Amino acid sequence: MVKKKTCVFISGKGTNLKNLILQSREKIFPIKISLVISDNKNAYGVIYAKKYQIPYIFINTKLVNYENTILFNLRKYKISFICLAGYMKIVSNKLIKNYQRKIINIHPSLLPKFKGLNTFSRMLKNKEKKGGCTVHYVNEKLDSGNTIIQKKFFINDKDDEKILKYKTQKLEYRAFPEAIIKIFRNS
Ligand code: GRF
Repeated sequence: MVKKKTCVFISGKGTNLKNLILQSREKIFPIKISLVISDNKNAYGVIYAKKYQIPYIFINTKLVNYENTILFNLRKYKISFICLAGYMKIVSNKLIKNYQRKIINIHPSLLPKFKGLNTFSRMLKNKEKKGGCTVHYVNEKLDSGNTIIQKKFFINDKDDEKILKYKTQKLEYRAFPEAIIKIFRNS
């Protein structure tokens, strides 16, 4: 099996990145993490790129040309698939057009509910009964592309934001790899 060369975009802790790197080291996992892009110089997650000797790049999104820098590097590393894993920047239309149905994102809610930021506080405020995560394709609209996989959990009365995050991320570490396997199952 030829693994798809994949770039993971991060902004923060990178626990999903770490999980994907470990999964991708399995022989039968369909992708290889060949590049990590971070828009944040202080992103803790970069430590995993270093540890597993994966090339990583910081992108300064304040520069007008930053999208071209991203595209240049994606081509340089022959990237054919992109995972957004806690990337806090909205992906440009140009990038989406160049990678149609090749960019996926993980979101900490049961989309279409709670698109955008601060999902856990809004869920608690709304007295939601269920939480979860969604892996979806990225299109021009925020958190709106087709769903690939969703995983749910029940919210207890005593759950606070910290617990919701813990429960969500536990599911994310299963959902992201499963979504990738599902995408490449028949290719
Ligand atoms: C995840 O919970 C994901 O759903 C959201 O950002 C978080 C990233 O966490 N998009 P990490 O950086 O992978 O630890």
